[in-house]
Formats: sequence, structure tokens, C-alpha cells
Amino acid sequence: MNIPYLHLGRLNALCQPLLEQAALRVLRSGSYLNDQEVARFEHSWAEANNARHCVSTANGLDALTVALQGLKTLCQWPDGSEVIVSAHTFIASFLAITRAGLQPVPCDVSPDDYNISPSLIEPLITAHTVAIMPVHIYGRQCQMQPIRDIADRHDLKVVTDSCQRHSADGSGSFTAALSDATAFSFYPGKNLGAQGDAGCLITDSQELADLARAYCNYGAAQKYCHTIKGCNSRMDSLQAAMLSAKLPLLDKHNNQRRQQAERYNQEICNPLIALPYGGQEADQSVWHIYPVFCQHRQQLRDWLDSHGIGTIIHYPTPPHRQAAYAELNPVSLPVTEHLCATELSLPLNPTLTAEEQGYIIDTLNAFHP
Ligand SMILES: Cc1ncc(COP(=O)(O)O)c(C=O)c1O
Repeated sequence: MNIPYLHLGRLNALCQPLLEQAALRVLRSGSYLNDQEVARFEHSWAEANNARHCVSTANGLDALTVALQGLKTLCQWPDGSEVIVSAHTFIASFLAITRAGLQPVPCDVSPDDYNISPSLIEPLITAHTVAIMPVHIYGRQCQMQPIRDIADRHDLKVVTDSCQRHSADGSGSFTAALSDATAFSFYPGKNLGAQGDAGCLITDSQELADLARAYCNYGAAQKYCHTIKGCNSRMDSLQAAMLSAKLPLLDKHNNQRRQQAERYNQEICNPLIALPYGGQEADQSVWHIYPVFCQHRQQLRDWLDSHGIGTIIHYPTPPHRQAAYAELNPVSLPVTEHLCATELSLPLNPTLTAEEQGYIIDTLNAFHP
């Protein structure tokens, strides 16, 4: 069998006619930017997350950056102010902080859900701390209420990286309500993925939404009237139309992912392979990624590869150990470092057949180094 980690063509085939209709509609409309298609998706996504405003961007990194830049301006944070960020994340979370002229302070994660550990946040707060950035890693919701409580006690903002968590079943409302801003990536492989780059932020703050929109439009709220030094970051109409076409399928696909995760949890049985959270805990996740953990990761990866099964590592090196963040390299964050040394992501997506999943499980259960 040949089972790629994710085949985007097969994913699109699940709703090919809808995507083709949407693409043709945009092509024939003669309007490709800043139009009704974009406004329509922004409206739907705000509604799906029960947020007042949605500002679309070119990608998730820009959405995070613009959220922080906007808050920096509104709250008059000095350059170099500190943002406590989940250490177990894609480097974009850190880059957004740096791009906004702020300083990332990595916080270790909980071994139970791989998300920022609320009990480790408070000791990191200094006179320079201005915000906390939780990341819903692998699609699993962070412990938002304790994080919000800490933020309120210390007068901090919460900017949530939801680039791996997309839902339209109401569970996103919880995050939106407890965050000052929440950022999403619609990179093609996401649970709600575009056909290229796209992103957005949601917020209940009119002021932040207006400022973010101006930032993304060369710093202009009105044409040719530039009040701030902004950038060009927009979701184009084609991506917005694709996302609108796929949005009605999102919760069905998330449920399929939950069922597949449940099956992996039930049927993978190999003492060398540790599994992620199960039972009710598993419902907290939209399973963007299904991670397993193995001390013999490379051998396991090679074994699966030799049986035609594609895997990915999320992520081999945490941001604080990357050359780009040399100043953070000495920081020791044992849980994050252990996860990065042992994690392997298995195929899990709405195109995976029961037969394919059975084959993956059998191959995992037969693994020995
Ligand atoms: C946790 C996390 N944050 C931020 C991003 C950045 O999103 P984008 O690639 O759309 O810029 C990603 C994308 O993979 C991500 O997984």
C-alpha cells in the first residue's frame, strides 16, 4: 500500500465540484481582491467562532503579527516588551512576536496535552510582560480559562495561535471569548485549508479590528491616507471563495478525524509507542495532527516508510533551540524538548480509508527496532 501523509488532491476531490464552481465564479467575476467574496468569508468565519470581527490576511504568520502590532499600538507597549509563548509550536508563533518588535519568552508545555502549562506561566511574568500567546498545538484546545485568569490578574493581553485548530461547532467561541485576538492559518493542509496561503484574525475589539485592517492595507484606513507604516497582507478572493466552499464540511471532517484518532487510540498496541490523550480528553481536539511518541523515532519512521506509509515530525527542533533564536538556546524546557525528540505524526485526514488505517495500525503493532 502507498499512503502519503496527506494527499491534497484527494482532499480536494471530496468537494471538487464545489471548488470548481467557486473558482469559476471568481474567475468570471473580474474582481480578485478586497471584494464581496472576501467579506463573505470573513463574516462566516466570525460567525462560526462567535466573534464580532474577522480580518483576513495573506497567511497565519501575518495574522499573528498584525494582532500583536495592533495591540502594541493600542496599549503603547514599548519595543522589546515580553510575550510569554508556548514553547512547543511552529516557529511562526515566535517570528510573529519578533516581527512586532517584541521579545518571545518561551514557556514549557504540559505532558498531558502538549499545550502551554498555566502553572508555568506566572513565574515567567516580569515588569516587561505584556501578553501571553497560547497555541492550540495539534488541534487540542488550551486551558483557556486559567490562562485568561492569569492575564487578568496581571493586566496582560491574550493572543491565541489557533493556526492548528479550526472548528465551526461552537468550540472556537470559547477561545475567541477568552482571547483578545485569535489567529488562524488556512495553509492547504489545515483542517480548513485554502489552495495556497491565507489567514485571518478574529477579535471582539472594534479598535483592534480597524487597526489590523489598516496595517494589512499599507497602513491606510482610507485609500491613500496612510496613518501608520503598514504592510500588504490580504486574502485574495479566490482563496476566500475556496474557503467558503469548504467551510460547511469542516465539522463533518473534524468528526471523521475524531473517529480516526479514537481508532488509533484503541487499536495501536505496541509498548514502544506512546499514544496521545484519549477518551473525553480526545474530544477537546480537532486532531489536526495525530502524534505518537517513540524513543526509536527514526527507526519507526523508516519502518513505516518501507511499508509505504508517510509520516511527518511536528517539530524536530523547538524554536528556542533554532539558530535564529540563538539568544534563547541556553533555555531548558524539558517537556517540549522531549516531545520534539520523540514525536511522529501519523496520517489522519478525511480521505484516509478504514482499510488504510487498519494497515497503518498493523504495521505499527509489528514494529520492533
Ligand atoms: C502553530 C502555527 N502557527 C503559525 C503558523 C503560520 O501559518 P502560515 O503558514 O499560514 O503563515 C502555522 C502554520 O503552519 C502553525 O502551525
